[in-house]
Amino acid sequence: MSAGDSLSGAGPLHPVRLAPSLLSADFRDIAAACRLAEEAGCDMLHLDVMDGRFVPNITFGPLVVEAVRRCTGLYLDVHLMVEEPGRLLADFRRAGADGLTVHAEACVHLQRTLAAIAELGARPGVALNPATPETAVSYIWDSCGLVLVMTVNPGFGGQTYLPAVEVKVRRLRAAAAAASWEGRIEVDGGISPATAAAITAAGADTLVAGSAFYGKPDPVAAARAIREAAEAWRCPGAP
Ligand code: DX5
Ligand code: ZN
Repeated sequence: MSAGDSLSGAGPLHPVRLAPSLLSADFRDIAAACRLAEEAGCDMLHLDVMDGRFVPNITFGPLVVEAVRRCTGLYLDVHLMVEEPGRLLADFRRAGADGLTVHAEACVHLQRTLAAIAELGARPGVALNPATPETAVSYIWDSCGLVLVMTVNPGFGGQTYLPAVEVKVRRLRAAAAAASWEGRIEVDGGISPATAAAITAAGADTLVAGSAFYGKPDPVAAARAIREAAEAWRCPGAP
């Protein structure tokens, strides 16, 4: 299923979607960070929630998501890097999350967790660590609207992209086509104009960028550079 392909608050959607990660933004002014993403024509905002257990780092919870919600109409793509995400889904949905992505490695009953997200009216997503095979979603296509393939080990912004993950995206794109699945394949970690082409050619259609967007002196130009690199190499099978 596509689990609701329309992205609330966004303008016309780009073929390859760009999701700046707020993790690399200047938190002294969240409203300005949201405006930057809007000015750059980004399709969504990516919000990294970390609990200090699933990943070593701690970031923020529903309170901050709710503040972001009040700043922007952009689609809020919430990436939960937490243990037992099922306990927190309703809180993040209430805070304004449009998409809720949980890690396959953190869910014993993954399909049940995805069904709970859909029940809350959000787009259910599954994130896969670099060491987790794409077969984690082989039997649950119908329950997920997005697969987030990590191109770094989750936990921090600014890490080095792992090119070995490209083959996983390629296999995932082929499996998605075989299953007639219409969801999104998102990649996260070390995405920049230098890496966007190869991962998009492999089959990614949604790119998260933290330091390559907010860490640049001109994020609007940076977004354009990432998008141009990606769209030139778009995989023919991608939506
Ligand atoms: C990492 C997070 C990413 C992070 C990406 O665990 O999931 O979303 O913000 O940052 P960059 O683009 O700098 O690698
Ligand atoms: Zn993320």
